Amino acid sequence: GVYSFEDSPFLMEILTELRNKHTGAIEFRKGLVKLGRYMGYELTKTMDFEKVEIETPLEKTEGIIAKDRKNVVIVTVLRAAIPLMEGLIKVFEHARVGIVSASRGKAPKFEIEMNYIKIPEIKPEDTVIIADPMIATGSTLLKVIEEVKKYGTPKRLIVLGVLAAPEGISRIKGAYPEVEVFVTKIDRELNDHGYILPGLGDAGDRAFG
Ligand code: PRP
Repeated sequence: GVYSFEDSPFLMEILTELRNKHTGAIEFRKGLVKLGRYMGYELTKTMDFEKVEIETPLEKTEGIIAKDRKNVVIVTVLRAAIPLMEGLIKVFEHARVGIVSASRGKAPKFEIEMNYIKIPEIKPEDTVIIADPMIATGSTLLKVIEEVKKYGTPKRLIVLGVLAAPEGISRIKGAYPEVEVFVTKIDRELNDHGYILPGLGDAGDRAFG
């Protein structure tokens, strides 16, 4: 599935601040951390849980534990996903974290170079969350997904971003139909330079200069 959160005024308000060109780096990073945290929370609603019996100080009662929440691998795509990961890990505090670098070449080929790849072993019970705020042409994520798959086959493979262009989502779903996509919002289109419109600019530059 493809999930977006246009119906959440709270998330849209954070997105509005990220889009605004007058938002500086500090607030920009804080916004990404918040989106990581709250989108992670939304993601937990789609996870399996088990019933458990516990005792309050007064009596026995039923509760739940979300086992899948503990079996999470977050793959952070440098640079812009760093603050997003910081938010996600507040919800998935047991997560193992992989880091990959991927830089996109210039138009029209947008070739991807991956110079650093460190990914933990992926187990069948794991939910893998690949975090990258921007899904533009989708080239970066296609490469990252190909790489991630070498480390094991997870229960769920999720791409979590802030903005996506329809083209990017189609490419990812076309190549990997099993991949689930969670984005704050799907934007209108890509321009000739591969930037999402209306977008928020270059997330890496805005967060880190
Ligand atoms: C941006 C963004 C994605 C990629 C998306 O990274 O964070 O990783 O481009 O583009 P694509 O879907 O067309 O591949 P960038 O190369 O600007 O690196 P940075 O985060 O280090 O600035």
